[in-house]
Amino acid sequence: MERIFSGIQPSGIPTLGNYLGAIRNWVRLQDDHDCLWCVVDLHAITAWQDPSALLEQSLEMAAVLLACGVDPMRHILFLQSSVRAHVQLAWIFNCVARLGWLNRMTQFKDKAGKDRENASCGLYVYPNLMAADIHAYHATRVPVGDDQRQHLELANDIAQKFNHDYGVEFFPTVQPLILGPAARVMSLRDGTKKMSKSDASDQSRINLNDDPEAIALKIRRAKTDPLPLPSEIDELAQRPETRNLVGIYAAMTDRDVGAVLKEHGGRGFGPFKAALTELIVEHLSPIASETRRFLNDRVALIDLLKKGADRAAAISDPIVSEAERLVGFVRVR
Ligand code: TYM
Repeated sequence: MERIFSGIQPSGIPTLGNYLGAIRNWVRLQDDHDCLWCVVDLHAITAWQDPSALLEQSLEMAAVLLACGVDPMRHILFLQSSVRAHVQLAWIFNCVARLGWLNRMTQFKDKAGKDRENASCGLYVYPNLMAADIHAYHATRVPVGDDQRQHLELANDIAQKFNHDYGVEFFPTVQPLILGPAARVMSLRDGTKKMSKSDASDQSRINLNDDPEAIALKIRRAKTDPLPLPSEIDELAQRPETRNLVGIYAAMTDRDVGAVLKEHGGRGFGPFKAALTELIVEHLSPIASETRRFLNDRVALIDLLKKGADRAAAISDPIVSEAERLVGFVRVR
């Protein structure tokens, strides 16, 4: 069975974008893969996180993943900072990756914004740590949303250069799995901007713990245009907000965009938004209540994460040890 690795930052409450672009696909891939699911707290601190909030958000993220159907028995769920191999391999990769490669990363440019000089060094080398996450397990498949595509190309460049420089075939090629009609869910306020858990406006996103009233309000207020829904897919090209809502609808009903337009094309947004709200509420309500259940037993949750970390370390320690030997480090322990 091929090995999967994927991660999510505990930098806020996960959004409908995280769910449709990643988490839901993770759960579906569990049947025929060996999976590692990681709450990437080391990545989260590349931007400032209040320590007590980070702690709560990390546990909450783990609880949300369990509530969504991540299986911690057949697979492995753990916190990134509790397995040292990630940092150890990331340092080696900092010395393999080239500055020119990192300079091309669009996500760094977006996140650092205009105040680039003030961005953390961690934010800059973030993709090297992400490559280490994957390669520390020799994972070959990585389910992510569309925004992570460039980082996965870099993970392959790093593996290739490591293999070339040290004359080995040690790190395998990674295949991105970018699945479904909602691989890039956009902001509800601006169809050209990604829906993000760290966006300043709560109205821009659906959080997985939003109650039905909040979901209804956010969808009702979601930006649209004055035209009715189109009947043809090409007509969505110039209508980013409409394309976004139709994409979400398609993902939630497991249909393609064409089928949704066949049903709703030519009609106004009123009934469409009402149907979309119902779908989202139906999906998210059980997740919110299950999350609360997992969070209520904190001792069990921490124990489960500890077991996950032990099992993850048992896979990554020998791989990273071997990488260190290949690099030429003297092994004294
Ligand atoms: P993060 O925490 O930003 O997002 C977690 C996952 O959700 C996807 N995603 C989206 N998909 C569709 N529409 C959106 N609006 C949307 N927003 C987020 C992301 O693509 C991602 O799959 N760097 C990663 C975390 C990471 C990782 C890894 C992933 C660290 N190490 C190794 C894979 C493998 C990140 O910041 O994800």
